[in-house]
Amino acid sequence: MSEPSTATTTPTRRGLLGALTVLLGGAIAALASVPVLGSLFSPLRAQPRTGSGDAPIPVGNVSEFPVGVPRRVELIRSVTDAWSRSEATTVGAAWVTRHADGSFTALSTICPHLGCGVNMDKQRGLFACPCHTSAFAMDGKFLEGPAPRGMDPLRVEVRGKEVLVHYQRFKQGVPGMEEV
Ligand code: FES
Repeated sequence: MSEPSTATTTPTRRGLLGALTVLLGGAIAALASVPVLGSLFSPLRAQPRTGSGDAPIPVGNVSEFPVGVPRRVELIRSVTDAWSRSEATTVGAAWVTRHADGSFTALSTICPHLGCGVNMDKQRGLFACPCHTSAFAMDGKFLEGPAPRGMDPLRVEVRGKEVLVHYQRFKQGVPGMEEV
């Protein structure tokens, strides 16, 4: 009487275990790659959150703005592009004035001539651009120089005690305000 042969069963079991290991490993790798792939491709669906038309930017409490004196504020927000998110990025600046009747106005600091930063000249009581000597009244109206128009007004909102500025950029070197 002959012994039952194990030579044919052992390789079959090994083969089965090997196949199961490969299948299990493949399944784990596939599951693990889902979040990675998701993070790689989801930014393609994300929209940029900066630029014209976005949510207004908080610039401070009402009490931080003295009446009748323009205050320069940085316009800061988080910026998200297709692949990255950076916190607290300065996207622009504005001269914000609180008026006696409680209303607020804001002027973009970008000179409408060629884009230099417009400063306040306290002694002369006006805004002045250091690049080509354009000058503007305290309400932003054009006074003199090569600038083709006055300073660009930005919309201001007051929510409770918080002052917010709607950030917009306009074309330089043209007489009218054309949003870019
Ligand atoms: S950039 Fe302001 S006057 Fe030219």
